[in-house]
Amino acid sequence: LKRFIDLADFSRDEIVSLLQLSTRLQAQPEPQALAGKVLGLLFMNPSLRTLASMQSGIARLGGASFVITPGQGTWQLETRPNAVMDGTAAEHIREGLQVLASYCDVLGIRSFADGRNLANDVAETKFTEMAALVDKPLINLESAANHPCQALADWKTLDDLGVPQRAKFVLSWVYHPRALPLAVPAAAAHMAAMRGMDVVVLRPEGFALPPAIMERVRRAAAASGGSVTETAERADALSGANIIYAKEWGCTTHYGDETADATLRRRYTDWCVRDDWFSSAAADCRLMHCLPVRRNVAVADAVLDGPRSAVLRQAHNRLTVQMAVLHRLFIQ
Ligand code: CP
Repeated sequence: LKRFIDLADFSRDEIVSLLQLSTRLQAQPEPQALAGKVLGLLFMNPSLRTLASMQSGIARLGGASFVITPGQGTWQLETRPNAVMDGTAAEHIREGLQVLASYCDVLGIRSFADGRNLANDVAETKFTEMAALVDKPLINLESAANHPCQALADWKTLDDLGVPQRAKFVLSWVYHPRALPLAVPAAAAHMAAMRGMDVVVLRPEGFALPPAIMERVRRAAAASGGSVTETAERADALSGANIIYAKEWGCTTHYGDETADATLRRRYTDWCVRDDWFSSAAADCRLMHCLPVRRNVAVADAVLDGPRSAVLRQAHNRLTVQMAVLHRLFIQ
């Protein structure tokens, strides 16, 4: 394993093998497996889970890590190609990334969408440019349109919960006061399709996932025997659901237009997951969310604190699956 950038780079069998390694490392810890190895972590954007679970994971395998958060104790990094660097950024990623890669054995990068140009964000233009500068094994810690570590943890969570392959997986848009990136919804829908589930993307008008993202999801479903539908009809979508995967994301019909996005999303403040969302769902339907979540805005307290919530298991599984990814990347 050289790079962990996108679940689509792997076969279903390879993903299952990674999940088996994750389970094995839980049962039989290997505290010296990565002794003497160094993981570099570059966070262009904030994090709680990804940062802490990566540092904890490498430590539990005997390795070490360093973290760079540009502008917070380290130089601001410029990412624009051919920029005239007369602003706040003192260093360009062209030098910065190559220097960081030279200090570690594996590098992880988090770099969110710019949120201005949908085509560029869906094409992963910025992350691809950054990845091309790194001559070491690389982990995508969340890019513009992907979050493979979260997707892998979510797959393990579904397995842990005993959710059958052909279960109904409803990825539902939920309200947030600001436009959030497409990375998690894109990765979650693709993961569920690759797992062979019946995926329903539920979102209000104006928030359809971009065609290129839906096409990837459809291809994954076709290969695994799953299915994909998209709807704005909440009652139909939630009927018989086995999983409600709540996620906030930005308006795609007015992508990058903050005013138009805000005007449209204000109509949908009732898209907050409450107990009544489960009234026609399967009796054992569970709530998933990648976190962080805004309580009583995206998901109600009663759901997050109730027995349906799987969000803490998802977050814990970030640690367990990433240890498997690190194990495979460092030990070729
Ligand atoms: N789910 C997730 O990636 O969390 P963080 O943004 O806190 O890392």
